Amino acid sequence: MWQLLPPTALLLVVSADLQAAGLPKAVVVLDPQWVRVLEDDSVTLKCQGSYPSGNNSTMWLHNGNPISSQASSYIIKPAKVENSGEYRCQTGGSALSDPVKLEVHQGWLVLQTRQWVFQEGETIWLRCHSWKNTSLLKVSYLQNGQVRRYFHSNSDFHIPNATYSQSGSYFCRGLIGGSKNESSKTVDIIVQGLTIPSIHSSPPWYQIAFCLVMVVLFVVDTGLYFSVQRNLRSSVASWKDHKFKWSKDPQGK
Ligand SMILES: *[C@@H]1O[C@H](CO)[C@@H](O)[C@H](O)[C@H]1NC(C)=O
Ligand SMILES: *[C@@H]1O[C@H](CO)[C@@H](O)[C@H](O)[C@H]1NC(C)=O
Repeated sequence: MWQLLPPTALLLVVSADLQAAGLPKAVVVLDPQWVRVLEDDSVTLKCQGSYPSGNNSTMWLHNGNPISSQASSYIIKPAKVENSGEYRCQTGGSALSDPVKLEVHQGWLVLQTRQWVFQEGETIWLRCHSWKNTSLLKVSYLQNGQVRRYFHSNSDFHIPNATYSQSGSYFCRGLIGGSKNESSKTVDIIVQGLTIPSIHSSPPWYQIAFCLVMVVLFVVDTGLYFSVQRNLRSSVASWKDHKFKWSKDPQGK
């Protein structure tokens, strides 16, 4: 995909990165938060970053290509499949944001999620969204082919305290207009185990080992210092001795 980007876009990204080195990154926020939408929905992308006085323009990139809009909010309405892809933004007082991915799908139903990857303990919000909010009844949410939740009238499905076992392939189905049985495409959701706390609560041996290494280094260092000093003194002494002998010798002759 990178080789498809025009060189100018790459240049832009690189120079933007360089210019803004050291500044906090801007953040692209979706409103509403769903990362998967249907055609004809409307989505607003907001760029959160700081604006130096006198420059309130925002740079937007869609799949690495600059967008003409310079407003802090970029409104996609009505959404089309071509609007899918990665969005980044930058303001005068912030570095280029990380990309935010948006998927625009065609069809009657889409299973909406706010992200694809969750950490254990987070809440997974799912929404079975119909094209132009057409009435939808008898809605089921399925995980790996099994019905996980059924609602007679359409409702969001949220899974609090997600665990690894809630990873999987999800879709929803229901009756459009009360009679037409439709299914959404599937979406793969990943729930990751928590890795950060295991580092924070690392066993004390880690700290003990660190202290031991520091003590050993100090002892070795101090020992080296004194032995070098001693050697230096004795060599200076022998050098003086030598000089003394030398200056003495000619007289002796
Ligand atoms: C204003 O900020 C934008 C980044 O959003 C930057 O590309 C542009 O060069 C800045 N303009 C000036 C005059 O500093
Ligand atoms: C829709 O069709 C599936 C099979 O394709 C079926 O299992 C399900 O019960 C139907 N849904 C409703 C609400 O009738």
